[in-house]
Amino acid sequence: MRLLIIWGLALGSICTAGAQTQPQQQWPYDYQVEKNITVSHSAVVSAHPLASIAGRLILQEGGNAVDAAIATQLALAVVYPGAGNLGGGGFMVARLANGQQIALDYRETAPAKAHRDMYLDSAGNPVTTRSLDGHLAAGVPGTVAGLFASMKYAKLPFSRLIGPAILLAEKGFVITASEAANLNAYKADFQRLNTAPTAFVKDQPWKAGDTLVQKDLAHTLRLIRKKGAAGFYQGETAANIVAEMKRGKGIMTLADLKNYKVRERKALAFNYKGYTIVTMPLPSSGGICLQQMMGMMENYPVAEWGFHSPRAVQLMVEVERRAYADRAEFLGDPDFVKVPVARLTGKKYLAARMADFVPGKAGSSEATKAGTFPESEETTHLSIIDDKGNAVAVTTTLNGHYGSRTVVGKAGFLLNNEMDDFSVKPGVPNMYGLVGTEANAIAPGKRMLSSMTPTIVLQGKQPLYSLGTPGGSTIITSVFQMLMNTLEFGLSPADAINKPKFHHQWLPDEIAVEKDFPETVITALQEMGYKVVKRGPIGRSEIIKRTPGTFVLDAAGDKRGDDSAAGY
Ligand code: DON
Repeated sequence: MRLLIIWGLALGSICTAGAQTQPQQQWPYDYQVEKNITVSHSAVVSAHPLASIAGRLILQEGGNAVDAAIATQLALAVVYPGAGNLGGGGFMVARLANGQQIALDYRETAPAKAHRDMYLDSAGNPVTTRSLDGHLAAGVPGTVAGLFASMKYAKLPFSRLIGPAILLAEKGFVITASEAANLNAYKADFQRLNTAPTAFVKDQPWKAGDTLVQKDLAHTLRLIRKKGAAGFYQGETAANIVAEMKRGKGIMTLADLKNYKVRERKALAFNYKGYTIVTMPLPSSGGICLQQMMGMMENYPVAEWGFHSPRAVQLMVEVERRAYADRAEFLGDPDFVKVPVARLTGKKYLAARMADFVPGKAGSSEATKAGTFPESEETTHLSIIDDKGNAVAVTTTLNGHYGSRTVVGKAGFLLNNEMDDFSVKPGVPNMYGLVGTEANAIAPGKRMLSSMTPTIVLQGKQPLYSLGTPGGSTIITSVFQMLMNTLEFGLSPADAINKPKFHHQWLPDEIAVEKDFPETVITALQEMGYKVVKRGPIGRSEIIKRTPGTFVLDAAGDKRGDDSAAGY
């Protein structure tokens, strides 16, 4: 782990606090992915080794899990540009050592000039390229405001937490094979959707080991270090965003940026067989759907049936179908629409929802337009547990891979394409095949419904797991499977995230399975009457388990990407 080293320079005294690291003049040109570690103090797991290490060093310097979450997110904005971000939004769920539960909502909002039918053509047909590509696809970014709102729970100064990110952007870092492949795959998009040259495009194809330097991004990060959130939402950076909008026919204004507000929500917490699940409320659909699905599962002895047994998979598919049907009908930004949350999650209601469940026989979703699954989706999750008893789970997103693929000229960061998470037209599937209604229609200032589900599990009063994943519409069913895999089927953290996953989202009425999903289970499901389709990888999950009564932590990063754990 030669890399550990490097940060000493950037982070000043970071290496003096009992860490195994020594300051040394060396840059992050050499690092390794650590898929699964066991440590006895604190652990971070995120989508990129350099970001996990940034978080780990902050913990070693005496920062808490929230400090580490801020530093890790900022580092991800540099080393994982496809999803880590300044120009997107996210959610942080935390459970602090003092028992406080936190749900920070820094989701993007629709600009003031947005309107309900803005992505429809004159014949009323959706033009999804407009909600997905370029300037018009971007919601007002929430991430930087979210990081500053998180500072209330942090210990170290912000200037320290942003240090690794500035260093990585300024000096560059070597990219992995998958990052090189992605940058090459999106080259034409970057060329088509940008008004100024970007660091992501070069003449020769990218290859593993190339160095990515992001000078404009480093400049923006320094402005944020100097001026706080105003370094992004006002002054030079805001002016750069608005100038970019003007060049690319976008609608975001200085007022949109200045008016952006983080919402501190009440974390959604519910009981599942003695465990407390702490997760994200609206405008994420994840927490409510999770509570519904786990509520519907509760009365069945799935642990006895076994992991990936056809009857357990079928039951999980049927509860997923029902939760996603409700999602489409009822869920949206609670500041704009009234959502019957208590009713949707009530025990009686959930029992009634399962009244027509027939074991061994496929249910059916109403036939409407079917959605499609994209192979590549980008959002990113990080989990941290520290040795003070704090647990943090953050999921943050640009929506699609590299978001709108539009980089703000002179500012060096990518803008999201989160507007596509609204229901562009009732009943018309978005990029994840999700349908919605009035509840998730576009309105100025409104937050688009999300599936991001950062989640913490408590046993008694202690954190047991911190977990989460990207994956668009599959986020909720992946988190659901991780919880079932651990709490019911007794899988190790690594197995719980890496074993093949499946997914049903009501519409389209089919079970999507990863390519390595067991053929015997597929056949059994087909015999019950299900349509089963194979698809690309589902999510990129991160998980940390704490052994009760100790600080022994088992942290695992998903096999599906460069995900990597760090700790001590
Ligand atoms: O908020 C949401 O639900 C989506 N924008 C998340 C997108 C996502 O997970 C893409 N990633 N893999």
